[in-house]
Amino acid sequence: MQPNTRRSFLVRLTGFLVAGGALVASWPLFRSLIPNVLYEPPRRFTVGDPNRIQQGVTFLDEQRVFLFREANSFHVISGICTHLGCTVKFARFGRQQEKTVRAFSFTALGEFHCPCHGSKFHGEGTNYAGPAPQPLKWYRLEVSPADGELIVDLDREVDRDFRLVV
Ligand code: FES
Repeated sequence: MQPNTRRSFLVRLTGFLVAGGALVASWPLFRSLIPNVLYEPPRRFTVGDPNRIQQGVTFLDEQRVFLFREANSFHVISGICTHLGCTVKFARFGRQQEKTVRAFSFTALGEFHCPCHGSKFHGEGTNYAGPAPQPLKWYRLEVSPADGELIVDLDREVDRDFRLVV
């Protein structure tokens, strides 16, 4: 092998090894950008037989929504604060404090408080204190024609006078 050819070969080999080494060394960095599991709860889900859902308020923590039942009337309010997305808490009123929100013919059992920056929402979701800029969202509920179970659809917002009567 000629000296020039040998030198050229060694330069190429060195370049190849350096490039390969850099690729191998940077692989963990690239891999860390790809999550091992892509988990997102379904946007449309069943919550069971409406007759078996308890009266009052039930919080569904995986989907972060509050399911309300008053006799045979159901509705769902988002538990995601409209300020920066913390999960709000439902603060139940005492019996004497229950209020009727006339605009929505709504008997509020309590109200929502955000633990992060102090926003407060009336029982039908209207923001009235703190930095939250908008009311909590309401979502569509329907009865499955196949098995009669209640279905919540987080892709379909509804007005605050929505009720599903079963
Ligand atoms: S996230 Fe709820 S008040 Fe800021």
